[in-house]
Amino acid sequence: MNTVHPPSASGQLPPDLDPRRLPAHVAVIMDGNGRWAEERGWPRFLGHRQGVEALNDIVRCCKDWGVAALTVYAFSTENWGRPVQEVNFLMTLFHEVLERELRNLVAEGVQLRFMGDLAPLPKTLRHFMEEAMSATAHNQAVHFNVAMNYGGRQEILHAVQAVAHRVEQGELKAAAITEQDLTEHLYTHPTPDPDLLIRSSGELRLSNFLLWQLAYTELYVADVFWPDFDRACFHKALLHYQTRKRRFGRLDLPT
Ligand code: FPP
Repeated sequence: MNTVHPPSASGQLPPDLDPRRLPAHVAVIMDGNGRWAEERGWPRFLGHRQGVEALNDIVRCCKDWGVAALTVYAFSTENWGRPVQEVNFLMTLFHEVLERELRNLVAEGVQLRFMGDLAPLPKTLRHFMEEAMSATAHNQAVHFNVAMNYGGRQEILHAVQAVAHRVEQGELKAAAITEQDLTEHLYTHPTPDPDLLIRSSGELRLSNFLLWQLAYTELYVADVFWPDFDRACFHKALLHYQTRKRRFGRLDLPT
């Protein structure tokens, strides 16, 4: 039977997880901030605030437990369609959190990378994001990718345009384009594809996240809103992951 032990308070990997079979890269759709707040009769922005605290702990948890890369969906290309007050709140929150956390991220060896079309973001936020990326560029404890103004289709389109440009320049023949040529232009490059995708709040959708990279990723849907996603939930997701047989489209043949 699969018993879920409480996560260790010391920050070490729980004993029922096999360190050799941890996902090297976990992607997360942090869904349910708004509903978490609404359920309490609170304004939605409080859900986003609490969501940041949950995220903070999961980044540290990846570092403590030995998950090498974490990619989270912070703001999608579609999120501009939310009420202007919510969009403005989120932009201010990103800035505030970055300012508050940058020193800790540097000290803890977290490499921070923002991925997406960053040009339309507020200028001050963008500058701060660039500063944060260069301040943490040499860190290796955990690679933390934050998708901002990100859309999976838009990312693929951007990569296709870059490859088409190389064809136009005569560097490459159209018929000779490989998957590798395209992946080199994805925002996640050179991070390998995620092994595990976690989505909180029970929804069964990809929501335009990492459409290319998720081709063979194991999916896990947590039944809690993102602000309630803690180490115990992460532990449970990793236990599930370790029960999966990954065949990448092949068959397991008897040896
Ligand atoms: C989805 O919940 C969440 C978001 C659109 C924002 C996620 C952002 C954070 C947790 C902050 C991250 C901060 C940094 C600095 C990376 P929702 O609003 O769609 O919830 P709902 O589905 O219940 O409405």
